[in-house]
Amino acid sequence: MQTLETIQAVRKQVNLWRQAGETIGLVPTMGALHAGHQSLIERAAEENDHVIVSIFVNPTQFAPNEDLTSYPRKLEEDQALCEKAGVEVIFHPEPQEMYPSGFDTFVEVHGTTEVLEGASRPTHFRGVTTIVLKLLQIAQPDRAYFGQKDAQQVAVIQQMVRDLNVPVEIIACPIIREVDGLAKSSRNVYLNPAERKAALVLSRALNLAQQRLNAGTREPKQLIQLIIEEISKESLAKIDYVEIVDQKTLQKVETINAAILVPIAVYIGNTRLIDNFYWEAK
Ligand code: PAJ
Repeated sequence: MQTLETIQAVRKQVNLWRQAGETIGLVPTMGALHAGHQSLIERAAEENDHVIVSIFVNPTQFAPNEDLTSYPRKLEEDQALCEKAGVEVIFHPEPQEMYPSGFDTFVEVHGTTEVLEGASRPTHFRGVTTIVLKLLQIAQPDRAYFGQKDAQQVAVIQQMVRDLNVPVEIIACPIIREVDGLAKSSRNVYLNPAERKAALVLSRALNLAQQRLNAGTREPKQLIQLIIEEISKESLAKIDYVEIVDQKTLQKVETINAAILVPIAVYIGNTRLIDNFYWEAK
């Protein structure tokens, strides 16, 4: 396995693979890899001849008040996980490599970026779409893998790829959780023991809503209320949003008859956590 820091070095390897007619899977990450990332990497290894994992804490998707400098960085551990999971190339550029002086182009997706995470983090998705399009141009993968943990990110990237005719297949992979239900996240390390326990309220509230849907409730307001009530029982939790939206457009639904997404964002102490589930009538 190689760790490459320059675009030129990645391009050179990619060209060799493409000339040989071999397929490439790309897994974009910000590092501090855990079992969630690992599941994406393993899926990419199963479905492609070669896997590239990018590890880059992308400054343009962090607002000035966010955790860019404190975001966990663990390159050596990440390298070990990648090696074991069958990765051949880690792309680990410096910010200067991706955003040299004079850089002045951003990719803006409208609609899907203006709700949910986008409402609380107005500049976040233009950073995500810009870096993901750059990574797709550099790695030229047949398939790129994303987690449903960040359901809105998946919808936004699918919209970008459709709109800009990017020749790649976007593969959305299921959320990987801790045994007690907490969705794995690189930001879970910010939680102290009391907060770690309190954080279970997210998956618990979503489970309740899912059960209620399966039992026949089709009223978004009732389901949202149920989730809000459950989260409000936890004194360390502060709700940012609880919504029921269309899976593709991410716009709120009045009645539940199509494929829906139930995304939530909750502060546990100072740490903002997200979780969700996808649901479709059988
Ligand atoms: P990061 O938070 O490192 O996540 C990389 C990928 O892993 C994303 O597609 C994310 O949805 C997925 N992932 C994270 N936790 C997961 C879990 N518990 N189960 C399944 N998948 C999970 O998302 C980003 O980085 C960045 O925005 C990026 C796309 C790399 C652009 O900078």
